[in-house]
Amino acid sequence: MGRRILVTSALPYANGAIHLGHLLEHIQTDIWVRYQKLRGNQCIYVCADDTHGAGTMLKAEEEGVSPEVFIERIRKEHIEDFKGFLIEHDNFHTTHSEETRELSELIYNKLNDRGLIFIKKIERLYDPERQMFLADRFVKGQCPRCGSDDQYGDNCDLCGATYDATDLKNPRSLLSGATPELKASEHYFFDLAQYTDMLKSWTTSGAVQPEVANKLAEWLDSGLRAWDISRDAPYFGFLIPGTTDKYFYVWMDAPIGYMASFKHYIKSGNDLAFDDFWQVDSDAELHHFIGKDIVNFHALFWPAVLEGAGFRKPTRIHAHGFITVDGTKMSKSRGTFINAATYLEYLNPEYLRYYYATKLNGTIDDMDINFSDFVQRVNSDLVGKIVNIASRCAGFISKQFGGELAPALHDEALWQKFVDAKDSVANLYEAGDTSKAVREITALADLANQYIAQHEPWKTIKDPDKHSDVQLVCSQGINLFRSLAIYLQPILPAMAEAAERFLNVERFRWDDVDAPLLAHRINKYQPLFTRMDKKQVDKLIEASREDDVSGGETADEGEDAIISIEDFAKIHLKVAEIVAAETVDGADKLLRLTLDLGDEQRQVFAGIKSAYEADELVGRLAVIVANLAPREMRFGTSEGMVLAAGPGDADIFLLSPDAGAVPGMDIH
Ligand code: 2FM
Ligand code: ZN
Repeated sequence: MGRRILVTSALPYANGAIHLGHLLEHIQTDIWVRYQKLRGNQCIYVCADDTHGAGTMLKAEEEGVSPEVFIERIRKEHIEDFKGFLIEHDNFHTTHSEETRELSELIYNKLNDRGLIFIKKIERLYDPERQMFLADRFVKGQCPRCGSDDQYGDNCDLCGATYDATDLKNPRSLLSGATPELKASEHYFFDLAQYTDMLKSWTTSGAVQPEVANKLAEWLDSGLRAWDISRDAPYFGFLIPGTTDKYFYVWMDAPIGYMASFKHYIKSGNDLAFDDFWQVDSDAELHHFIGKDIVNFHALFWPAVLEGAGFRKPTRIHAHGFITVDGTKMSKSRGTFINAATYLEYLNPEYLRYYYATKLNGTIDDMDINFSDFVQRVNSDLVGKIVNIASRCAGFISKQFGGELAPALHDEALWQKFVDAKDSVANLYEAGDTSKAVREITALADLANQYIAQHEPWKTIKDPDKHSDVQLVCSQGINLFRSLAIYLQPILPAMAEAAERFLNVERFRWDDVDAPLLAHRINKYQPLFTRMDKKQVDKLIEASREDDVSGGETADEGEDAIISIEDFAKIHLKVAEIVAAETVDGADKLLRLTLDLGDEQRQVFAGIKSAYEADELVGRLAVIVANLAPREMRFGTSEGMVLAAGPGDADIFLLSPDAGAVPGMDIH
């Protein structure tokens, strides 16, 4: 019997539209799931909307509807969006469901019975005007570490510090503008630390990618704190058993939503046993696909909760990186923050499925997407190389041979190469390295095209003596195309379905690549896939700009508002030489630079440690904003700012003037 596999993508928040970021994850998961199904494994893919929390409550209030009505509208939209991209969830549920309530209570009661829950009074920020406790997202203030303004209640964008909202300096409520008060309240905690040893061995057992295991080891080694799983009323969620005003924190019941969606799937008439998949010694597999920003929830809290409640742990967490567009964050005003529904008005979903597949490699590295590359990959590789094979050969077979394929292969050795790729392509799909899988498939397509070009059926057809050669060559070409269509089925399910109709065959199975179609009648060729029109891409970007409801009044975070030349003239840029560079104790991202500006020296803290070794910077020229107000940081005063390009992490590129510039020169 094949494998039995339960698969999930992270549950999208029920607070907005599905966009390119969600699609990356759901397309990645869907490809993996379709591959498993094509292999004949039993694979069930469930998802749901993540509905609970104060955020949902407030959004619904803004719209003047109940949270239930609000989340149901969003859920319908999400289902449509995913369908449009051929994402085949077997069930798309909601965490605001009876199944989630029951399972959350059951899990909580088990944890409680085992003494893993304790109650503690803590102080949290409270909005006296709105009369509610403030989630981290609803409060801003100064970072307690570096002092920078306008930071949320959980971590600092600038220095990367993580802290409690109560540590923020000069906090203000984003709901009312009021200054929050400290107010004590009883919270329920899950005693995570008891599972430190279990988690140390589980996270190094191959259940997570090595890069993720390293990150988790840092947390595990520095000691786990108990996890606060309750929130005070008012809150949209489920009450903790035995309380009247304490709710499960949204991150407690969200992963339980995976189980709940599976339970609901069974209830909706599928003959499976819940326990077969969730009991401790289950031989079924459990795979979670998530973004790298939420690995703590999935690879620390979640396995510990499962263990504590007597359920099995996940087989594997597949974490992915983020996407950037042209090297920067998706941006509303640039039209690169693209919603699923807007995309579908202009372009074929399989263009994006294919393009994402060329980018995904099973690691947590970020992926940059770029629209000219997108058009080029789809048009030259997919249409030009792969689909073209079928269209080049089909006409001859239908017109000259009544649609009948030749009774034998013309080039056995070439055919065998396509069969031999099977295991390698399979392993790449299994590992989530679709980028390499597509490269292998495209390399095979190159061989097929060379073969056709070499045998020139369009010339041979003119010679009556060689008539049957044409049938042989074109049948070979069509068989080669068929293998490629099977290999690509998980990525391009609609194209594969069109290929099945053209080839006049049943639904593809992975093992179909073992044997060619011989003396078989195929159908008349209809275009399987059309080229992308660059103009449609431009229209999509334009339309996405219009989706930007702010109407340009507020710039997206971190991006340009238009400024006048006078404003620009206020910025004084100078050439400086880095005369010393050193790491800063307690700062993950910062280097302390000593800069020589010709007539003075300055100390600047620069967030470039992820990309540069301190030593390699000494002696380099840099560009500095010389008239920036000095900033007090935990480590000292920063007197200016050095300029650099790039999205961050390893990709930070310090700007330097050409040779000849000297420290102190003005930049105009
Ligand atoms: O980060 C998010 O978008 C969350 N809504 C993911 C939840 S995943 C799971 F735990 F439910
Ligand atoms: Zn900071």
